[in-house]
Formats: sequence, structure tokens, C-alpha cells
Amino acid sequence: MVIGSPELPLEPSRPKPLFNLVVAWALSIVLSVVIMLFNEKYGTAIYDMGDLSGKVDIMGIIPHVTGRFNSIALIKSNAVEAFKVLRINIEAHWEKRGVILVTSSGIGEGKTTVASSLAISMAKAGSKVILIECDMRRPVIRDIFDIESSLGLADVFWRDTSLDDVINGTNIANLDVITSGYMADSPVELFSSTDIMRKFFVVMRSRYDTVIIDTPCALSLADTLLLSKFADNILMVIKYGKTRHEMFIKACGELERVGAKVSGVVLNCVPISKIPYMKFYI
Ligand SMILES: Nc1ncnc2c1ncn2[C@@H]1O[C@H](COP(=O)(O)OP(=O)(O)O)[C@@H](O)[C@H]1O
Ligand SMILES: [Mg+2]
Repeated sequence: MVIGSPELPLEPSRPKPLFNLVVAWALSIVLSVVIMLFNEKYGTAIYDMGDLSGKVDIMGIIPHVTGRFNSIALIKSNAVEAFKVLRINIEAHWEKRGVILVTSSGIGEGKTTVASSLAISMAKAGSKVILIECDMRRPVIRDIFDIESSLGLADVFWRDTSLDDVINGTNIANLDVITSGYMADSPVELFSSTDIMRKFFVVMRSRYDTVIIDTPCALSLADTLLLSKFADNILMVIKYGKTRHEMFIKACGELERVGAKVSGVVLNCVPISKIPYMKFYI
């Protein structure tokens, strides 16, 4: 029996783009929250002291400072106390503090920030300090300290510039700075010139109580491994929630393979909210 002629639908019954869009959006939010929670709990990024305790000496915890800043501003912020603790721990635990090399396993973890803020903190406490920029690939120290001269380390070695012409005074009493200078060649060539480098550090040691060297990351580049033989102590920076556990261990291993040993670590960029729950003293 024919009841009536079939009506043609005005729209296709499938797919339903709006419905699909809403479901996909909801699923992506749920999935990102699950991944975030999973990563926080089981991920390999270093989140707190417990991840490291017993394996390395934790010399300090630096809070994450909000807003635009560089080391000069950082040392005036609420991080100033944290840098004092770092300095006091170093003075208390490291017998030889002639040359302190600051490095980390990856980029952007706070090596330059820690090296320069520690240098400022030590100088303010009365030590005669020089900060030497040995990260020739990403130079920033000139901007941080507002230094006019472009002459630096590279000029001493490749253009026979006198050492006195590359040492810059700063606004901070007791603190001098040598920037990287113009790099025409690979830094590996410079840092491999053991005799030249050794003589350079002998002069630096004779003029200053502490020499702090800011280096590139210890993984993938030879620079830091080469520089490590001139240092008394190696301070590794770990960025809270970013530095991967395996990368940190690998970087320490690379340093050990060339006969250097990590003397301690600084946990950087720790959210203020997490600090009261952490032990501040080692
Ligand atoms: N404790 C901190 N709080 C907030 N920002 C920081 C902190 N430490 C470093 N930074 C910022 O992170 C960025 C990378 O730091 P930097 O010291 O240049 O790292 P690296 O030398 O390891 O590449 C810079 O913009 C710096 O200002
Ligand atoms: Mg740097």
C-alpha cells in the first residue's frame, strides 16, 4: 500500500559537523588535562627536590620571578634572598671557589641568569668577582650589564687585544665582566688551546677571589666540556618542570667522562607557591 510519496530531507543526516566539532573540542580538552596530570606525576621533568635528593648537592632554589627582568632586576626582586642562600651554601661547602663554571643540560634553563646573579651577590658580599661570558654562541651579558665596548674574550685570543681592554667595570662594586666579544671562528678551537686558556685563567685567578664562567649547555656542544678542565667547581642549573631527568643525568655523565664532576645544582624558576614546601637548606 502506498501511503504517500517519500519526502526528500533538506540536509544530509550525516556527518553532523557542529556535533562533531563540539565532541572533538571536549575530547581535546579532556585529553590535554589527562596528559598534563600524567606528565606532572609520571613525566621525566624534574619538579622538586625529591627527584634529586641523595644524587646531587642542592645548593639553592631560585623562585620564578614574574614580569620582564634581567639579572640586575632579579637581584632586586624577591629572588635576592634565594641568591644569598645559594652564595652562603657555596661558601660553606666548596673549599676551592677560584673558578665556578655554570652550566645546564639544555638552553633557556637559566645559566646566564644564575651566573650573573650569583656574581652580583658575591660581589655585594665583598668578594672581588669577575663574570666571564664563555657562551660565544648566544651572547647576552653585554646587554644585561649595559656594556658599551664590544671587545671581549674572542678579541683577546684572535685579535691580540690586551686583557685590560676587555675587562669592564660594572655599576656594582667589586664586579668586573668580560663579554664574549666578536666570534669569528669556532669557540671549540679557542677552548681547545689548553696552554692559552690555562694562562688566561691563571691571570684571572690572581686578580680575583672568584671567577664565574657562564657557558653554553653541556649536552651537544664541546665548549663546556673543554672549559670544565679550568674550573674548580661546576654548578648545574635545573629548570623546574622543564629540565628532563635523563638529559640532566646525561649531561653529568658527559662531564664525568672528561674528568669533571658536578659539585652542586640550583633549582631555578620554582613557582613561589612550591617553595614553602621544600627544604631550603642542604
Ligand atoms: N628565576 C627566573 N624567573 C623568571 N625568569 C627567569 C628565571 N631565570 C631565568 N629566567 C628567564 O629565562 C630566560 C632564559 O634564561 P637564561 O639565563 O638566558 O638561560 P640560559 O643561559 O640557560 O640559556 C631569560 O629570559 C631569563 O630572563
Ligand atoms: Mg645563557
